[in-house]
Amino acid sequence: MRMMRVKTYEEMSALAASMIGAQVILKPDCVLGLATGSSPIGTYKKLVESCEKGLLDFSGVRTVNLDEYCGLSGDNPNSYRYFMNDNLFDHVNIDKANTHVPNGFAEDLEAEAARYEAFIESLGGVDLQLLGIGHNGHIGFNEPTDHFPATVHTVALTESTINANARLFERREDVPTQAITMGIGTIMKADKILLIAGADKKEIVEKAFYGPVTPEVPASVLQLHRNVTVILCEN
Ligand code: GLP
Repeated sequence: MRMMRVKTYEEMSALAASMIGAQVILKPDCVLGLATGSSPIGTYKKLVESCEKGLLDFSGVRTVNLDEYCGLSGDNPNSYRYFMNDNLFDHVNIDKANTHVPNGFAEDLEAEAARYEAFIESLGGVDLQLLGIGHNGHIGFNEPTDHFPATVHTVALTESTINANARLFERREDVPTQAITMGIGTIMKADKILLIAGADKKEIVEKAFYGPVTPEVPASVLQLHRNVTVILCEN
């Protein structure tokens, strides 16, 4: 594991975008695993800037997102599909047909979970997976529990996650209580993993990467992955 400590959100975003950009340059038809939340917004901004300057070409890139809320359609501004379009896909030369987010609006969520898992497999796996981290150590929407979920699945969100994400919704009651997410096993299959964390995550990052590997701290499993970079912003 490579732990890179930087001083500002700006530096974290620039470094993360450099790594993702390098992946796109080295393999123009790569599969990027993408994340939502406040942490990657700056990274996506930098990628957009590089694309606008003609330094990056997303025309061959395929993307798969980690997770989505259940019950929100892609045109709902709180959905992760909307977030991705708004923060990245609408501003780079990616073919939207090559961007994938689990369908949280599917009637049969179990079938959707199985389809999404098989779909990622059919792309040949993820070359570089970008991750944020929740205050309770969740990655994607894999909440603390007694086991590491292997595949894409639906999950009931914990109170702490609902509270943390409520800031983005008009009313707390609007926050979905369920989500569909890549499993820990799905995430661990990625060739390379890049986790970015802001200063408010210092404590949980220390716990996850220097404490015991336990499903009570889902991100701790990343200690067992062979190519993980963590960029931790210290201010
Ligand atoms: C959500 C997402 C996670 C993300 C986490 C942290 O719960 N499902 O993928 O890592 O929030 O978000 P933030 O970066 O806004 O703190």
